[in-house]
Amino acid sequence: MNTPHVTARPDPYAGTERRPRIFRDDLLQGRIALVTGGSSGIGFGIVRSFAELGATVALIGRREEKLAEARAELLRDLPAAELVTIAVDVRNHAAMREAVDGIVSRFGCLDILVNNAAGNFHCPTEQLSENGWRAVIDIDLNGTFNGCQAALPGLKASSHGGRIINITVPQALSGWPGSAHAASAKAGVLSLTRSLAVEWGGYGIRVNNVLPGPIAGTEGLKRLYEDRGIADHEYERMAMGTFGLVDDIANACAFLASPGGDFVTGCDFMVDGGRWLKRGWV
Ligand code: NAP
Ligand code: COA
Repeated sequence: MNTPHVTARPDPYAGTERRPRIFRDDLLQGRIALVTGGSSGIGFGIVRSFAELGATVALIGRREEKLAEARAELLRDLPAAELVTIAVDVRNHAAMREAVDGIVSRFGCLDILVNNAAGNFHCPTEQLSENGWRAVIDIDLNGTFNGCQAALPGLKASSHGGRIINITVPQALSGWPGSAHAASAKAGVLSLTRSLAVEWGGYGIRVNNVLPGPIAGTEGLKRLYEDRGIADHEYERMAMGTFGLVDDIANACAFLASPGGDFVTGCDFMVDGGRWLKRGWV
């Protein structure tokens, strides 16, 4: 089916483009944010966006050198940005607690937590090892729980009303043949979000999901579609006729983190260019 209103891009898989700035420069001024998996891809874009909007941002990832490179790249464009890096595996409950406690004792509170770190690979369930299943559940679902629980004291202390934003995936709703581990873990995250939105609403903490579609230039797009030679097929499934940009997800997170998100909790914010709707129809 043709979508004549959409202009094709010369390289639809390139992810270097930025969206125009849509928020005022001081939208998140003075807020303390923590982004897990902030050293690449979507997480990096969220960190960049939050820092541009005035937030102090802590980045978590496993690899120290990757975090240092991300920080250096951000500081080239944003020399005044306040950025902290912490190498920790989100699967380690005690280490996550220690990392978040360190941020809270340094800055006094935590205003925004983004649980973005995740692992995924294509593997038919028939061939998936127990450890392969466990690794993905542990990073995506247990890692999100670890982040939320570690962040609770800091979020309670936020004078803006704490925010938790969980990055999930539309296939958490539809199922995902070949990535059942990731879809199951992310479905668990969707449910955790709804439970915490109610449990922690009394503390002024808003808890929401953001569900990205395929995002150009990311590891997720590469390993799940490009490396398998099915990126063109995936591209055909985009109702908007294009993959998303990292900024599309970062902008959704900035909105939820800002006063614009004050009355939004427990929601699934689908940012997928209509991909999940188109799959069965054309
Ligand atoms: P990515 O570039 O591979 O980034 C993953 C980040 O998480 C890296 O910073 C990585 O750093 C960190 N990480 C991985 N495992 C970790 C662990 N156990 N503990 C701490 N940090 C860890 O991924 P992406 O493609 O941007 O995806 C980011 C998020 O968006 C994921 O939640 C994914 O499910 C979701 N998503 C992505 C797409 C897409 O098109 N890319 C679509 C829908 C949803 P280290 O390796 O150094 O730890
Ligand atoms: N197909 C089948 N099984 C795979 C696999 C693949 N492509 N990749 C890893 N596995 C299996 C491993 O064989 C191992 O199982 P085994 O012990 O039975 O052999 C298990 O998964 C764990 O792998 P390991 O490499 O030890 O785990 P890790 O904790 O070092 O890494 C992953 C976690 C596997 C999720 C890794 O891909 C990762 O770190 N991903 C982060 C980045 C990412 O996924 N980005 C995209 C987000 S959408």
